Amino acid sequence: MTTEADTIYTSILLPSARVAMYARDAQSVEGFKSLQADWRFTRVQVEHHQGGVEEAIAAFQNGAPAPALLIIETDTIDDGFTARLETLAGYCPEGTAAIVIGPVNDVNLYRKLIAMGISDYLVRPVKTETLAFDIARSLIERIGASGSRLIAVAGVKGGVGTTILSEALAWGSADTLKQKTVLLDAAGGWSTLSVGMNFEPATTLAEAARAVASKNDDSFNRMLFHAGDRLDVLSSGGDVMLDDGIDSAAYESLVDKLMTTYPVVVVDLSNAPTALRRIIISRAHEIILVTQPILSALRAARSLMQEIKDIRSDSESRVDLIVNMVGMAGKQEVSKSELEGALARKPALSIPFNPSLFIGAESEGRKLSSTPDGAELVRSLLPLLAKVVDGISAETLGPANDGSDKKNALTGLLGKLKTK
Ligand SMILES: Nc1ncnc2c1ncn2[C@@H]1O[C@H](COP(=O)(O)OP(=O)(O)O)[C@@H](O)[C@H]1O
Ligand SMILES: [Mg+2]
Repeated sequence: MTTEADTIYTSILLPSARVAMYARDAQSVEGFKSLQADWRFTRVQVEHHQGGVEEAIAAFQNGAPAPALLIIETDTIDDGFTARLETLAGYCPEGTAAIVIGPVNDVNLYRKLIAMGISDYLVRPVKTETLAFDIARSLIERIGASGSRLIAVAGVKGGVGTTILSEALAWGSADTLKQKTVLLDAAGGWSTLSVGMNFEPATTLAEAARAVASKNDDSFNRMLFHAGDRLDVLSSGGDVMLDDGIDSAAYESLVDKLMTTYPVVVVDLSNAPTALRRIIISRAHEIILVTQPILSALRAARSLMQEIKDIRSDSESRVDLIVNMVGMAGKQEVSKSELEGALARKPALSIPFNPSLFIGAESEGRKLSSTPDGAELVRSLLPLLAKVVDGISAETLGPANDGSDKKNALTGLLGKLKTK
């Protein structure tokens, strides 16, 4: 029986991990080795050793480092074999996953192996797809999709453009970087994602967290709105505005669940309860702070950056600042040099005030990138993602980011967008 969640295991880039197979059966070995060429296994080290359980025991007894997942082939399935598996387990750290390949179907053996903590028992000859699926599922279940990247977008105050920039980042990740991406917020009933992403809120954060807790994948998958080829959005927002939101542990489990299946998870933290902001900011691989070039916003930006520094020693490399709506406040605006002085850092990006672009896209529910100006803006955000997402080439990022091609036909907005 395959569920929708199952298909996800086979459609994402798997986390970095070492998988070792001890087998002799030519077809299993060939299938296993061929996974090396599969894009999903780019970060998986596929290691074959001729042998079976005895060779594995010998190797680990001699101090070979245990892989994340062990695949053991066996010709015998009697008690002697399960006893040797127990011995092998004694040499592997807790949490090492294992799959057994055997000669015949045997329900009792299967039950026994599962009870021992073996992920699966496969009967040879094993189809390559079956092997790929089982390896993917074990890796994701045991170590999580640790290769996934969590991107937090936080406004230093309300109304600075956090939501619309989160949407733009998510589209850029999916459409240009070709990453399977999910966008969610933590705002409960205060969410405005449904407006810009054009969906009806179908659920609440609490319901989504409950589906995760009860491992109800089918119901959870129905809560995901498919916005584009590679972009899904958690369709929450149906929460009662004046109710208390969910606690941070429940929210974290939601994010963890999404991280097992999406290589890029973008969280819009605008309007989120403080506890949820804290947990996401403390975990994110990349934190994008959105501010405006006005005093109140800059003061908040300075405090928030200091606080992030207090909770994260790596804040210098993890935090990037976007100054949005440049030109909105006329003479009241803080100049670029004053701003850099006050914040003691250069913004990664400055975005001009452009109501027809932003509010136009939002109220018509179309993506920012559907106009040339908007597409250019989305591209200017991509280096922030490329910092943390592996395997993004300069070519993908396009000429707009190498600083040398700023005078093309799109100079209108482009000329005003300054990357550092
Ligand atoms: N650079 C900009 N120029 C003009 N309007 C903008 C700009 N950035 C955002 N907006 C608009 O400002 C409003 C607030 O943006 P939003 O993303 O909802 O902010 P937040 O999530 O920080 O509260 C939206 O209507 C959005 O379209
Ligand atoms: Mg918002």
